[in-house]
Amino acid sequence: MKRIIVAIDGYSSSGKSTMARQLAAIIGYTYVDSGAMYRAVTLYALRHGMATPGGALDTARLVESLPEIAVTFSRSAEGAQHTMLNGVDVESEIRGMEVSEMVSPVAAVPEVRRHLVKLQQGYGVEKGIVMDGRDIGTTVFPEAELKVFVEASPEVRARRRVDELTAKGVKVDYDEVYANVCERDRIDTTRAESPLRKADDALVLDNDRLTREQQMEWLLERFRERVGE
Ligand code: CDP
Repeated sequence: MKRIIVAIDGYSSSGKSTMARQLAAIIGYTYVDSGAMYRAVTLYALRHGMATPGGALDTARLVESLPEIAVTFSRSAEGAQHTMLNGVDVESEIRGMEVSEMVSPVAAVPEVRRHLVKLQQGYGVEKGIVMDGRDIGTTVFPEAELKVFVEASPEVRARRRVDELTAKGVKVDYDEVYANVCERDRIDTTRAESPLRKADDALVLDNDRLTREQQMEWLLERFRERVGE
């Protein structure tokens, strides 16, 4: 069967990662969470004093350090994907608010983007991949056979993120998460280098109105059309 590239883009907390991960598991493709890579670089910057939460970012030092930042993925026995920073599992650290608050400024640095986009493109060489992010259909894989752009209101997305963090035992405040979601949308859509936007040939999925099951059904149908099944 023909193997393709599936690109899923959208705003923060739009549910695209869950959807992309589920799709990959069903169709037997590799899943890559490109946002986790930006988050890992952000964690590195925080740990090395190049960024202070809610504060300034030392772009020059971060760019200089890029060759020393290795971001990879490992899979646990249960099949869960873990993000590794220089060989150490940082999966839970990269999901916290500290990283969420600094990730969009870090991801707006052109050199950071070029460094990670190159790594991301490497994952797609053999196709058979589902990748989610902000610029997958526009910059990383403009030739992807199936592109989906996920939309949902900021209120729904903030509520979802609060529930997700609460389920993990992390205490968060709805207003703080809502503000972060809106601020990241603003930075991600207005940055100069590959801003978040729908690719012209992407299909829009409005996930305010669909259940998870309906979404997956819709996505699987589109996938089957593309592979000619
Ligand atoms: O938290 P959420 O799932 O919404 O976001 P994420 O996918 O983990 O991405 C975190 C941040 O990384 C985004 O807000 C963007 O600033 C940046 N990002 C990006 O610029 N390009 C990508 N392909 C993926 C993420």
